[in-house]
Amino acid sequence: MSTAVMDRSEIEVNQNLAGEVLSQMKQTKEAKASKINVKDLNLFYGEKQALFGVSLDILENEVTALIGPSGCGKSTFLRTLNRMNDLIDGVKITGDIVIDHENIYKTNDVIKLRTKVGMVFQKPNLFPMTIYDNVAYGPRMQGIKNKNELNKIVEESLRGAAIWDEVKDRLKTSALGLSGGQQQRVCIARAIAMKPDVILMDEPTSALDPISTLKVEELIANMKEDYTIVIVTHNMQQAARISDKTAFFLNGEVVEYDDTDNIFSTPKDQRTEDYVTGRFG
Ligand SMILES: Nc1ncnc2c1ncn2[C@@H]1O[C@H](COP(=O)(O)OP(=O)(O)O)[C@@H](O)[C@H]1O
Ligand SMILES: [Mg+2]
Repeated sequence: MSTAVMDRSEIEVNQNLAGEVLSQMKQTKEAKASKINVKDLNLFYGEKQALFGVSLDILENEVTALIGPSGCGKSTFLRTLNRMNDLIDGVKITGDIVIDHENIYKTNDVIKLRTKVGMVFQKPNLFPMTIYDNVAYGPRMQGIKNKNELNKIVEESLRGAAIWDEVKDRLKTSALGLSGGQQQRVCIARAIAMKPDVILMDEPTSALDPISTLKVEELIANMKEDYTIVIVTHNMQQAARISDKTAFFLNGEVVEYDDTDNIFSTPKDQRTEDYVTGRFG
């Protein structure tokens, strides 16, 4: 069909359509996509409710910080994102968590979910084996046996966790001989080796000295290019330094969720302001 058979109004309609498509493409390029959508999430440990109606939209390639006083549900919430609470007896969850358009509480493939959504804990929890074997552990469990392929994954993962140069000459020595800060970065490498989309971190620097903490913070800030990161931190400066969005939790509820700059400079809720200025309780 040639344009000759279109009348003027048809051409106009097509031009308008093209314009709309272009502007939509521009918008989606500028606005980050939603990675994790949490809707009205409640969690009970037996009779005791620990999360109350949590709703959050976590964006792709951003660092989202979870802050709030001890015992307010930050770790509990983090664990819901890869169903780690399933491992605790008597836990009941209502509501929805959708990751990449899939409701994670409606899937049966929890192993796949935990591959996609990796986790780094508060204390480095490396296995008593070599650095190499720690990082290769997950890929081997996934059935990768080829030596060259494993070598490549180990190197890429350690590079991705900004620890390659420090350990490349001692890959076959015990991982437990490393400093705490180095061990935590190897834990991050071990998470990266599974090729996750999302990495959850629960106070990953709270057991580290200030210099190691800065190194891990720098690493996290750089990692968001490739991953979506959700991090629990009790360190307000840390949240301000490395996160794009911050959620303030209190007694199992999200009081406020916004751009980190807004949370720290112009919070909307008095309770957020009291907490971030240190005037809390
Ligand atoms: N395994 C568990 N069994 C029962 N209660 C728990 C368990 N884990 C956490 N809780 C309770 O849930 C609430 C939230 O805890 P948590 O998520 O660890 O808070 P945070 O990480 O903010 O310090 C607390 O009251 C805590 O005692
Ligand atoms: Mg916690």
